[in-house]
Amino acid sequence: MTTLADTWGINEAQFWLRGVRPEQPVEHDSAAGIWNVYGYPEILQALSDPATFSSDTRRLVPELAGNDEGNLVQMDPPEHHKLRKLVSHAFTPKVVADLEPRIAALTNELLDAVSDRTELVRDLAYPLPVIVIAELLGVPSSDRGLFKKWVDAMFASSNKFSLKERSKEQEESMAKAMEQVQELSEYLLGHVQERRRTPREDLLGKLVAAEVDGVQLTDTEVVNFGMVLLIAGHITTTMLLGNTVLCLDAHPDQLAAVRADRSLVPSAIEESLRYFSPFAAVSRATNREVELGGTVIPADQLLLLWIAAANRDPRQFTDPDAFDVRRDPNPQIGFGRGIHFCLGAPLARLEGRVALNIMLDRFPNLRTDPVGGPEFLPSPNMTGVSKLPLLLG
Ligand code: HEM
Repeated sequence: MTTLADTWGINEAQFWLRGVRPEQPVEHDSAAGIWNVYGYPEILQALSDPATFSSDTRRLVPELAGNDEGNLVQMDPPEHHKLRKLVSHAFTPKVVADLEPRIAALTNELLDAVSDRTELVRDLAYPLPVIVIAELLGVPSSDRGLFKKWVDAMFASSNKFSLKERSKEQEESMAKAMEQVQELSEYLLGHVQERRRTPREDLLGKLVAAEVDGVQLTDTEVVNFGMVLLIAGHITTTMLLGNTVLCLDAHPDQLAAVRADRSLVPSAIEESLRYFSPFAAVSRATNREVELGGTVIPADQLLLLWIAAANRDPRQFTDPDAFDVRRDPNPQIGFGRGIHFCLGAPLARLEGRVALNIMLDRFPNLRTDPVGGPEFLPSPNMTGVSKLPLLLG
């Protein structure tokens, strides 16, 4: 059977998008020196036990380790808890909810600039989240060409990650990614230092001023956290917006249902996150020997938890390959689970809801352009459109 993933040429490594089930929920890839975890319950077990499944994978991938203090994603308790508490104070539900009018205004502004044909990623799905996160942090959104250059190079590789066998291309792309990280962190350091001199009310300013147990964050911590926000805050939401429009277009009955009943917009977004999970995998390192899905994994092993595959696990989701905007309940784990649950989930959901509603309002005939179909990001760890030509008129 030809699936949408085949039609659109999504990276072949993402077999779960092709109706194929993993042979086992936990598999050892001895060539790459990695454990792949595909099953929903197995991934929940790992995400709910950070003492065993550490987020600090740097000890196993030394090439990627830099000065990473303040990188929330790679921290374990108790440090993770302290920093998460602190940044949650600066990034509250109210801060996010207050952004709704700005997100709506920006969406309209960006759509005003398009005619009856658009490339959605270029014209809306990329600029919208980037401008929002840049404004929130307090860095000029006009620098977004720079962010794009840095972030694109970080995720350019189409190869599967391996601890053992690396091609020259992989070595080069890792080195290139590290260079981009360096440039981005120098850029952010300039902004952080400026806030030390002149306090400001933006998110970087709040992070500079914030205290945990009477101690302020260091410049490096603020820079690294700002970097996580800037990267996580845009590429993933770009994918979410594009994927949702594409999934609805590919399922006209579902699109009609959402048009007829806009209260389905939030559940359409949840279903898009399940069906095409933008961030396909998260990584963990075992702190001790542990049994997972009937398999014993030794200590100090690198695991890729394929949340995108778990979101298609028939043990959890009935008819997992069907795109159903009315799926209820929909415990999709596209934002992760447990202590590292995506801090930006409320923002991503808000941007998705506002942008999709405005597009449906403004374009009653919105559909994909049969000329030059969608393109997807090459990375096996991402599921997201990089180009989506649409006809609007
Ligand atoms: C964490 C996905 C949007 C900031 C995560 C994790 C996932 C994820 C899967 C868990 C990582 C792990 O367990 O190792 C997504 C998706 C998004 C999205 C699919 C959009 C559709 C955002 C946005 C922001 C953001 C808009 C910020 C503005 C973060 C941060 C963390 C995180 C800071 C780390 C939380 C922690 O370690 O405690 N995200 N994300 N994300 N995300 Fe998102």
